[in-house]
Amino acid sequence: MENYIENLNWRYATKKFDPSKKLNEEIIAKLLKSLQLSASSYGLQPYEIFVVSDEKTKEKLKLAGWNQAQFTDASHIFIFVGLKHLDEAYIDSYVKNISNIRDIQVRDLGALKDKLIKNIVEEPKNEQKAWAQKQAYLALGNFLSAAANLKIDTCPMEGFDTEKIDKVLGITGTNLSTAVIASAGYRSKDDALQHAKKVRKEKEELFHLI
Ligand SMILES: Cc1cc2nc3c(=O)[nH]c(=O)nc-3n(C[C@H](O)[C@H](O)[C@H](O)COP(=O)(O)O)c2cc1C
Repeated sequence: MENYIENLNWRYATKKFDPSKKLNEEIIAKLLKSLQLSASSYGLQPYEIFVVSDEKTKEKLKLAGWNQAQFTDASHIFIFVGLKHLDEAYIDSYVKNISNIRDIQVRDLGALKDKLIKNIVEEPKNEQKAWAQKQAYLALGNFLSAAANLKIDTCPMEGFDTEKIDKVLGITGTNLSTAVIASAGYRSKDDALQHAKKVRKEKEELFHLI
């Protein structure tokens, strides 16, 4: 736990990455595993994640991302894309996955399916989209902590034009829409922010211990 807190203090939203340093396959595999293990509401994981290392695509992302240098200097760009809505087929496939993995008959999961249809599929579509994006943000939070524990630098990013990023990814007009982005790689020695003190609320302001 001490290490965990140390690593959270070590991490910061990196502005300048060292473009010559790339994440290796082993690190990428660990980051992907941490994303796969992220908790989500009902376990539905209503998002997908694009992982971009192609330099030309990163240039295009930068143009869609307020020209932020992290898009091209970081080794990899993780784009968290939320589902706009969930239909019955999506729920069926989720239930089937539980059935396969836990060796439970689909018919014994009928109550779960009904609950998910009522609580998710039948909700207004704009609420489904907002809910899916919240789940994507949770995966982002998980990702930032996992990366810090691997001593990988990241920058969470909301500074982008959603429509333009969607276009670069080729998901315009589909059931997917970009929620949030994280760049990942290794900090540049010149990034002054790595030496800045953390600015956070005082405990008294943040917590209510009842
Ligand atoms: C959802 C989210 C979006 C953010 N968007 C950007 C961004 O577009 N560009 C950027 O440089 N930093 C961005 N940040 C970084 C924050 O400014 C930073 O996390 C905050 O100031 C706290 O500092 P620290 O993370 O270095 O401790 C974002 C952070 C979060 C959590």
